[in-house]
Amino acid sequence: MSKNLVIEIKDRQFELFIKEETILNSINRISKQIRTDLHDKNPLFVCVLNGAFMFASDLMKQLDFPCEIAFIRLKSYQGTASVGVIREVHGLIEDVQNRNVVILEDIIDTGHTIEYLIQSTLAKQPESLRIATLLFKPEALQADIKADYVAMEIPNDFIVGYGLDYDGYGRNLKDIYKIKE
Ligand code: IMP
Ligand code: MG
Repeated sequence: MSKNLVIEIKDRQFELFIKEETILNSINRISKQIRTDLHDKNPLFVCVLNGAFMFASDLMKQLDFPCEIAFIRLKSYQGTASVGVIREVHGLIEDVQNRNVVILEDIIDTGHTIEYLIQSTLAKQPESLRIATLLFKPEALQADIKADYVAMEIPNDFIVGYGLDYDGYGRNLKDIYKIKE
């Protein structure tokens, strides 16, 4: 089946940037690192909704050892710009104390969201805390944080697809698209 190389979402055009196969290969690579580090530690994965739902799903399918998943929902973006304020819409109900926790994020952009999540999770006293992100924009980073598992590094362009949205739309795309200037 042929693929649309340019798509429209609301008022903007986006072009094909990372194909599903590349995304899945990169997730497979970090799943092996996670296996090495955590296969005997009964990790609790915390998926940050909404953006990380596809990443969490495909990553979990690659893991063949005992583990659990929980969900947290944040809201911080409007349109293509960070509004800087992070709201916890649906907090963690699972007990993370003494657990080996891995936060699953869709993307680390400025890093403020993950910084907030690190603080709020550490306050709950996990045994260990690791960060896994599908995407990382090194040029946009403003916070003093480091992810343990990075599936893909990308330049500082706005993207949609594979869980990531533009004003709520585009999350259903299998591939990742980049905004056209
Ligand atoms: P940060 O706090 O600036 O690191 O932004 C993190 C959150 O912003 C992510 O969890 C995404 O939901 C959203 N975000 C950042 N960059 C993009 C992008 O290029 N496309 C869609 N959402 C993004
Ligand atoms: Mg988002």
